[in-house]
Amino acid sequence: MTGVRRLFDEAAIAGRVRDLAREIAETFPREFTVVGLLKGSFVFVADLVRALHPLGLAPRVEFVRLSSYGCGRESSGEIRLVGDVPAGIDGRQVLLVDDIVDSGHTFAYAKSLLLEHGAERIVTCALIDKPGRREADITADLVGFTVPDVFIVGYGIDYAEQYRSLPYLGTID
Ligand code: IMP
Ligand code: MG
Repeated sequence: MTGVRRLFDEAAIAGRVRDLAREIAETFPREFTVVGLLKGSFVFVADLVRALHPLGLAPRVEFVRLSSYGCGRESSGEIRLVGDVPAGIDGRQVLLVDDIVDSGHTFAYAKSLLLEHGAERIVTCALIDKPGRREADITADLVGFTVPDVFIVGYGIDYAEQYRSLPYLGTID
């Protein structure tokens, strides 16, 4: 697609997804809950849970929709829950999954939300980490790729609702 510079192709992503699945299998029992943040994590979650299956893990899969970005590139820092938190979080071990951890406000908000709903333990997993942009006091426990301050699209990740269906990860200026 014009204007998108490829960063990580399908094979590189699949390799990291397999590595992450192995790390997850080392720390979670067969039964736990994956909570993906919508919309950006939908492709990543779909690949990740299928990579867990051959390792003997059988997670429940839930999604939470948060909003902060609107259609711009900068997080407002004000996170809003859109809709409801799924039932059945109480007492569960949770793998919280997002596409990108940037300022960290989204992960921090989602983590406290799930703790309020009784999650027993939360491990955070981001496909992409931009550590240079962190504002909230949070780290992703599991990270696919670490990048500098660039704007990422593809593999579920959008800019103004475009580019989500690209099968690879790229940057736009
Ligand atoms: P944070 O709250 O600043 O950590 O932002 C995290 C959220 O912002 C992610 O769920 C993404 O949806 C979005 N985001 C952050 N960086 C990018 C980017 O480079 N491209 C697209 N979305 C991004
Ligand atoms: Mg998002």
